[in-house]
Formats: sequence, structure tokens, C-alpha cells
Amino acid sequence: MTSQGDSRNESTADQRLALMPVSVATIGFGAPLKVDLYVQTTPSARPVLYRSAAFPADRAEVQRLTAQGIKTIYISSQQYETYQDHLRTHLQEFLADNSLPPSVRVAFLSERAREVLRAAFESRDASKLVRKAMSISQDIVKLVSASGLVTADMYSMLRHDWCMFAHSFHVAAYTAILAREWGLDDRETLQSISLAALLHDIGKLRLPARVFAKADPLNEVEQKLMRQHPQFGFERLCHRDDLNYDQLMVVYQHHERVDGTGYPVGLSGEEIHPWARLLAVTNTFDARTTTRPYQPAVPVMDGLDLLHRQADTALDREMVACWTKCMTA
Ligand SMILES: [Fe+2]
Repeated sequence: MTSQGDSRNESTADQRLALMPVSVATIGFGAPLKVDLYVQTTPSARPVLYRSAAFPADRAEVQRLTAQGIKTIYISSQQYETYQDHLRTHLQEFLADNSLPPSVRVAFLSERAREVLRAAFESRDASKLVRKAMSISQDIVKLVSASGLVTADMYSMLRHDWCMFAHSFHVAAYTAILAREWGLDDRETLQSISLAALLHDIGKLRLPARVFAKADPLNEVEQKLMRQHPQFGFERLCHRDDLNYDQLMVVYQHHERVDGTGYPVGLSGEEIHPWARLLAVTNTFDARTTTRPYQPAVPVMDGLDLLHRQADTALDREMVACWTKCMTA
């Protein structure tokens, strides 16, 4: 690997510098991205400066890094806004560019959505969150409808670290794909279901920060509180006239289980809205294939195996089979 712009010896990242991981696929397209780029040479090493802002990476550079197995590159927190501005300015152009592989377009949207959802969730402003989520759901459907999108490719472009914003985006993208395969394939329906999926955990905003952001497993009291989040989410959104009944049922019923052991009501089988049953599958899949503070991610096939073991007890068997088909096609 070559270092350009500054000598490697002089360019070891300042230990105090906060670095933000971003997908390599997002750095070499469109107008030159003028930020310093850092790479990790071994999994436990501190990232070092790879290219300075004066020498922006191009498409060939992205291909070189990708060929070396490098999927993540780092940007300093001071330059992260410049990076997000770049994505904001070019996102629609990237999404419409048929010369870019759909997987690269997934990376752009994923990085942008992550930041937009972070800001919207942290504002704790439901109207702002719904507004931002509407625009992201439209972009998700553009991607899902793009010819050539392979679900496994999309999966490989996501950053599977745990945070609520990333989780919401993953589940929304997966649910749009599963819904389409399930036969709900008109654009309006797909946008509607992916918006509901982006908002499915909005009730967690009403939980105390110590429960909401806790890295360790929850104790019994905290679990009881956590189990109220579907109800809280429903209450927060049910008076809005820009959301429909089906979307509200996703928020309210996404932790119901087909054998009646779920919450908040304990509905079973087809008493549970079909959109909520679809989301239960993708939500469970993402929870296990994403690294959490107290639990490592499992590989895709193990995640699918787990879904099959929960078919007919927690999850709808036919929907699990449909998701398996999406991931293994
Ligand atoms: Fe939830």
C-alpha cells in the first residue's frame, strides 16, 4: 500500500484525534472529496494517515483498497461534516447513476442515512424524524427497485455495528426487499412499509437514557420498561395524519410473536398485522448479524439458521423462507 501526500513516518494519526469510520466505497466518486483519509493496517492498529486532503482518492484508488480487503476508511471528526456535505450534495446524483454498482449506491445511502437518522433521533423531535425518514424511505425504494441489486451485496456494504440509527436503516432496507419478494411490490406500498420500519423503535425515545443507551444486558425492571416501547411509539405517532393504520401497526406490533408470547398484547398468528410479521423477521435477523456491545455478530448463514429455529414460535415460517430466498438468491 502506498501513502501519498505526506510521509507515513510523519503521518501517524494524532492519538487524540477522533476518527469516524466510513465505507471505502463512498470516497472516490463524484467531485473530489477533500478530507484526510486514514486506514487501519491491522485490525487492532490505530489508523494512520493514508492520503491527505490535497490528494483526493479516485475510483481506481477505491478499487485498490477494496482489492486489499479494506472496506472501512477513517475520517477525522473535524472533517466529518465536509464528508457528509459531499454525500448530501451528491446523493441523488449517485443514486441515479446507473454506471455505479447498486452495492456502491447502498454504501452512499447507508452512510448518509446513518447521519440523518442520528441527528433526527438525537433531536427527540418526532416530526423532524418522520420528515427525514420519509425522504430516506423514498431513497431506499429507489435502491431496492434498481435492477441488479443483490440482497447479499447490499448486506456486505452495511456497517454492522450496533447503534439505533444504523439498525433502523438496515431493517428498513431489508423490510423493503422482503416486502417486495412477498408480493407488496408497488412503489407507494414499499415506501410506506420502509418508512414504518425506519420509525419502528421511535418509542425508545421515551425511555430513560440509562435504559435506552445501556451497553450491558438489561435487568428485570429495565426489561419491563423496554417492553413498553411499542406502546410508547404508537402513542407518539397515532395522532399524525401523515402516517396510516398499517404503519402504526408496524410500530405497535413489531414485538408480537406468532405463538402469542410477544408483547405488548400477546397477539398470535394472523392476528398480527402482516407488515409487523415481516418486520419481526428482518428485525431479528439484523439484531443477530450486527455486533452489539454484549454480543458479537453471527455470520449470515447462522443468522438465517436462527430465524428458521424461531419459525412458527416467534416468526412467520413462510416469511422466514422468503427472507432466506432473498439472502441466498
Ligand atoms: Fe423494537
